Amino acid sequence: MAIEHHDYDVLVLGSGGSGLRAAIAAAEAGARTGLVCKSLLGKAHTVMAEGGLAAALGNVAPEDGWTTHFQDTMFGGKYLNNWRMAELHAKEAPDRARELEHWGAIFDRTPDRRMSQRAFGGHTYKRLVHIGDRTGLEMIRTLQDKTVHSDVDVFMETTITKLIKDGDRVVGCFGYRRATGEQITFSAKALVLATGGSGRIYRITSNSQDCTGDGYSLAYEAGAEMVDMEFVQFHPTGMVYPPGVAGLLVTEAVRGEGGILRNALGERFMEKYDPKRMELSTRDVVARSIYTEVKEGRGTPHGGAFLDVSHLDSDYVKRKLPSMYDQFLELAGVDITKEPMQVGPTCHYFMGGIKVDADTGATRVPGLFSTGEASGGMNGANRLGGNSLGDLLVFGRRAGFGAAEAAAQVGSVSLPQEEISAAQAEVAHFLSRSDGDNAENPFLMHRELQTIMGDGVGIFRDKEGLTQAIDRLESLQGRVENLKAPSDRLDYNPGWQLCREVKNMLNVSLMVARAALMREESRGGHSRLDHTAYSDYWGAHNIVIHRESEHDMTLTPTPVLTRDELVELVEARKEAEKAA
Ligand code: FUM
Repeated sequence: MAIEHHDYDVLVLGSGGSGLRAAIAAAEAGARTGLVCKSLLGKAHTVMAEGGLAAALGNVAPEDGWTTHFQDTMFGGKYLNNWRMAELHAKEAPDRARELEHWGAIFDRTPDRRMSQRAFGGHTYKRLVHIGDRTGLEMIRTLQDKTVHSDVDVFMETTITKLIKDGDRVVGCFGYRRATGEQITFSAKALVLATGGSGRIYRITSNSQDCTGDGYSLAYEAGAEMVDMEFVQFHPTGMVYPPGVAGLLVTEAVRGEGGILRNALGERFMEKYDPKRMELSTRDVVARSIYTEVKEGRGTPHGGAFLDVSHLDSDYVKRKLPSMYDQFLELAGVDITKEPMQVGPTCHYFMGGIKVDADTGATRVPGLFSTGEASGGMNGANRLGGNSLGDLLVFGRRAGFGAAEAAAQVGSVSLPQEEISAAQAEVAHFLSRSDGDNAENPFLMHRELQTIMGDGVGIFRDKEGLTQAIDRLESLQGRVENLKAPSDRLDYNPGWQLCREVKNMLNVSLMVARAALMREESRGGHSRLDHTAYSDYWGAHNIVIHRESEHDMTLTPTPVLTRDELVELVEARKEAEKAA
């Protein structure tokens, strides 16, 4: 049977903000560009960055500038960031924000009609461009509009299960249409992975069902390196009840606008953990603080902390936090202008990801690029809120241009038949392997994986818990080949899709757990109960992971690369922090 086939110069996988921005740039550079997403265009985790886009425009705080934004990002990331990425991000985010406005994005305004900016944790100044608490949504809407007017072909509801290589080079990919199960191949001179993160390896997460780490796994299998995978961001504030919505994001903008955290005793507990920044401390600190209050018995009736904005003017709350107002009223029956919310940590973001060249998004695999949450490095050990939206614009554009430039150097590419056959065999196997006692249900295995990650690789970690988690994950790995979709229908079969996603999430979980075991210190989003302090050694090393052979995951501590002129800026911040 003939397979549907398409050929592009640049193919982008993923239609969140970074994928859209990459596709716009590639098309602008003259590349024939395709965009593939496994769900519908616009359904992306980008919309969960609700509170704002960090860019040192200086509209509200004129003293702000790229150097302070760079310093804040490095301090938040505990100096493990890719320095060049942090520099480019801080320098270019303002232009990317202005550009977005020219493309039609509507942001809240200052009285003199410039883009308004609000406070967020870890940012020295009011820096986050926003529209109420729907900033990510507005960005997606704008980028989506721009994309469909940019001569980009869009393939929705298309699941990609394998990157196809010809020798060392990625030359395309294989997948199937979710609506029909019909197979599809793409050849591409350059391929950009903008597939987002992997929050679904945890049960409590702000991420949608789609965030299953596909890009991490596909890139790893294709020979790319991964970096900083031990650093998973638990956003401090997700809903804790009702159970069906546990984990749903409660934007940091609530605290940015003056929201106060209290425990069940009425204590404003951030005084204990970060008396200087209080509720606007960095996310790693606030998440650990709430977790600790609950663990020590001072949690709310639903096992969280109280987050209160009822002291603010109620019209102001409804204007600045309209989604939060609706979300709590409709889902929990709570009017946030009158009573406090109950909130707790929720897995939100992966600081780690595919290791890329800062300027172009190139991976070490020829033909393969990455951007956005799928790529790692920019955020080091902990991301500041709002930096993801700047990141996806700055590096999405760079990866799109990088891929287009690489594609222009390449003649035609073709897909080796044996690679296609291997990909076909894998997806067919999930549907048709003969039913036996050992057939594994993907939904149950996914649950098991989430339990393992929650038990041993959560906010706090130690050697014993991590070792046990790795053992349990390895035993899952022994069973993964037995995954079988509960139904063999081809159209819209979520169980079939989950089979490959569980494989992907297992790869990702092993990366996170093994890197977390190796990093014997506490830093940013990685907290070891048995190594509670910073270590000088680990403060100067990222962990880089690659696949040596089928089941051989190699982890290598790798020195962080710095530059003299940037070191001066960071040293100045370190001195200022010590003095404070
Ligand atoms: O809390 C938030 O609005 C999330 C922002 C982000 O993750 O950058």
